[in-house]
Amino acid sequence: MLRTPLCELLGIETPVIQAAIAPFTSPELVAAVCNAGGLGSVTTAMQPLEAIQQQIERTRGLTDRPFAINFTLATMDHEAFELALAARPAVISLALGDPGELVERIHDAGILVMHQVHTARQAREAVARGVDVIIAQGTEAGGFTGSVSAMALIPQVVDAAGTVPVVAAGGIADGRGLAAALVLGAQGVNIGTRCLAAAEAACSESWKAALVAAESEDAVKVQEWYDVFPRPTGALYDTCPRSLRTPFLDHWQRHPDAARREADRVQNEILGGLRRGTMHEFIPFSGQTAGMIHEVLPAAEIVRRLVAEAERALTRPVAAWPTGSDVLCRSESQAQGR
Ligand SMILES: Cc1cc2nc3c(=O)[nH]c(=O)nc-3n(C[C@H](O)[C@H](O)[C@H](O)COP(=O)(O)O)c2cc1C
Repeated sequence: MLRTPLCELLGIETPVIQAAIAPFTSPELVAAVCNAGGLGSVTTAMQPLEAIQQQIERTRGLTDRPFAINFTLATMDHEAFELALAARPAVISLALGDPGELVERIHDAGILVMHQVHTARQAREAVARGVDVIIAQGTEAGGFTGSVSAMALIPQVVDAAGTVPVVAAGGIADGRGLAAALVLGAQGVNIGTRCLAAAEAACSESWKAALVAAESEDAVKVQEWYDVFPRPTGALYDTCPRSLRTPFLDHWQRHPDAARREADRVQNEILGGLRRGTMHEFIPFSGQTAGMIHEVLPAAEIVRRLVAEAERALTRPVAAWPTGSDVLCRSESQAQGR
């Protein structure tokens, strides 16, 4: 099976990570990815303490393999963080801000730190903090994301990270993306939107159907987010969400002044949708890979296909590329003056 040194570090078989997709992971999703050889991520954002505890316990009941517990620094609950330290997962993953002294606290508990960045500068800072793995997340990603595309970001973060392994995120949903990430110097991938359209994901079937039907251009940045939700304070990264378009979001984006004036009402509608399981009608966070997802699949099958396709893509001889070989032959003969 496809392996990189990251696999040794994390104790996994193949370098595929189910990204944190709060609050839509389920113990079944996390365990299915772990049992298929990858690393699953339990999430904590927007979930009460008891639900987090239950997720961790149920995941442990379904797999004896390593998994991660994720925190977004913008919404971090300190009791939940203590709970995660005590649970001793293999990895705690952090996102959306400077990890600061949390790195030392996680290491003191004997746990690895995986930290997500959106720029090369943030990667340099994370290395200085002592993180063990860096996720370089391109703007194509679903959820909160920065402005640099994965293709430009990954090699820069690889250069900035030195000996710290880098995992690519944003825009990856099949084995060609995994192969490309490895060629760019990453040692694995962290996939979110593809995992939302997994059979075990805890988002609604209507959301999964919307992902299957969507084109990439339907996954838009929501720059207006902070007109409605207060911008959290602290050493946070400059990000905003990417979501599938909905009539609700289109209306909001066309009338930002009205949304700002009625921020409380807009917020309540979104949070109500989240509680009722109808988030797909409001702001279904999703990345540009929505355009390349054509079916809902069990998570183990997603991992299996990613790895098999990447292995094929990485070993395919150049001569087997119908157009590529032609281009190469032409440029070689041009170079030789023929
Ligand atoms: C619905 C949704 C929720 C997310 N929630 C979180 C989260 O709680 N913590 C986090 O670190 N990242 C979160 N993300 C970002 C993902 O972890 C990951 O970086 C991203 O999905 C990768 O890009 P992709 O969607 O193109 O695969 C979320 C993404 C989505 C789509």
